[in-house]
Amino acid sequence: MEKIVALCKRRGFVFQNSEIYGGLNGVWDLGPLGTLLANNIKQEWWKAMVLSRDDVVGLDSSILFHPRVWEASGHLKSFTDPLVECKICHERFRADHKKDIQEHAKTHPSAGSGQVASWTEVRQFNLMFKTFMGPLDNQEHKTYLRPETAQGIFINFENVLSSSRVKIPFGIAQIGKGFRNEITTGNFLFRVREFEMMELEFFVKPGTDRQWYEYWKKERLDWYLRLGIDKKNIRLEELAKEDIAHYSKGTTEIWYNWPFMGFGELEGIANRGDYDLSSHAKYSGKDLKYFDEESKERFVPYVIEPSIGVGRAILAFLVDAYTEEKNPSANSGQRRIVLKLHPKLSPIKVAVFPLLANKLPLAKMAKDIYDNLKKQINGQITFDDRGNIGKRYFSQDEIGTPFCITADFQSLEDKTVTVRDRDTMKQERVKIKELSIFLQNNLEGKSDA
Ligand code: GAP
Repeated sequence: MEKIVALCKRRGFVFQNSEIYGGLNGVWDLGPLGTLLANNIKQEWWKAMVLSRDDVVGLDSSILFHPRVWEASGHLKSFTDPLVECKICHERFRADHKKDIQEHAKTHPSAGSGQVASWTEVRQFNLMFKTFMGPLDNQEHKTYLRPETAQGIFINFENVLSSSRVKIPFGIAQIGKGFRNEITTGNFLFRVREFEMMELEFFVKPGTDRQWYEYWKKERLDWYLRLGIDKKNIRLEELAKEDIAHYSKGTTEIWYNWPFMGFGELEGIANRGDYDLSSHAKYSGKDLKYFDEESKERFVPYVIEPSIGVGRAILAFLVDAYTEEKNPSANSGQRRIVLKLHPKLSPIKVAVFPLLANKLPLAKMAKDIYDNLKKQINGQITFDDRGNIGKRYFSQDEIGTPFCITADFQSLEDKTVTVRDRDTMKQERVKIKELSIFLQNNLEGKSDA
C-alpha cells in the first residue's frame, strides 16, 4: 500500500487535500492522472448501467435536500456508528473497530506508567454532516450534506415516472458526491469523509425482487471482471440477517482482497424492499405507488440497489493493476513498475516519442503522429522527448499506458513506427497510416466492458 500511495502522489493520481496546511483528515484530491482514471471508471459504469440499456435512465440530484428527507429515510435516527472515547486522551474510535482500540490501549502514552486505558460507554454517533441554509445558523435552518445519492433518486421517483416513458422494471442511476463524518478514516481512499458514489435504484414488481437481486449481483461482479480485476481477488459475500439494515430483504457485498485487511467491502448490492418509497409517501403525503397498465394493479415497487464509491473502485483497480517485475531490457537487474490497468481505464492510452529529440525530422514526424491521434483517443495521449527511450518506457509503464509509439530512423525511410506493448514489452512495426485502426482494435482490450 505504501508503494501505491507513493506512486499516486509522485505521478499525480491522488494528493492529500490541503497538504500545504498540514492536510485534512479523510479528504483526498485527484491529480491530473487520477482525474482521468476516475472519469474512465465513471464512464465505464455509466455505459454499462445506463447507455447500453433500455431500462435505466440517469439523474443528477442536488447535494442538499429538504431536512424531512432525512427523517423519512431513517438517516436522522439510525445513520450512526457506535463510538467510544478514551477517557485519558479523549481520542474517539469506532467501538466495532476492535483492532484500533487494542492498538490504542497498547500505544497510549500512559500505557507505560501502569495506567490502564479506560473507555466511555458506547454511544451512537450520527455520521451526517450538518450545515445551515440561508443567513441564519439556527436549528430551524439546519440541513445536511447527503450521505448517499440514493435518496435523491427516491424523492424524484414520481418526477421521472411522469416525465419519461419508463415502465417497471426500470432503474434510475446517478453519480455524485456523498459526505460522511466517519469516526475514523484510513487506508488511503478506502474510508474517507467526502467521496463520489455510483448508485442505481432498480424498481421492480414485488415478487420479482429476488430474481432481480440475483441478476444485479452477477451483473456487477461481471463488470469488474470485464475490466480486468483478477477473479482470485474478488467475490460475492451474502451478509447475515443481523448485519443488514432492518428493512433490507437481503444484502450482498462485492468483496475485494485488500492488501491492508484481506477480503472486505468494495460495493454493496441491497434488496431494499419498498422501505424508501413507502416511507417518503408517508412523510410527504404523496402517493408514490406505481400503476401497472397491463395488470391494472397499483403497488409500491421494490428496489434493488447496487452502490459503490468511486474512490474505493479506483483503489481496487490500482491495487489489482500494480505489478513489480524483472525488467529484462535493463542490464542492472533493475525491476520495473507496471500498472496493468485495462486499456479502457488507463489515464493515458498512448505515448508518442521521437527516438532522438534533437533530430528534427524525427521530432516533427512524432509530433505529427501525436497531433493526428489526439482527437481519436479523446486527448488521453502524451508526447515525450525527454531523456532516453528506456526512461520514457519506464515512466509510461508506471502510469499504465498500454502503448508507446516511437518514430525512429527506419520511420523516415518506410513510414512505419514501433509500437511497444506495456505488458509484453514486445515491439512491432506498424505503418503510420494504419496506427489509427491498430489502436481502435487494441485499446478495447481483451474483452468488452
Ligand atoms: N445507498 C447505499 C449506501 O450508501 P453503503 O454501503 O453505505 O450503501 C455504498 O455505501 C458504497 O459506498 C460502499 O460499498 C463503498 O464502496 C462506498 N463507501 C461508503 N462509505 C465510504 C467511505 N467512508 N469512504 C469511501 N467509500 C465509501
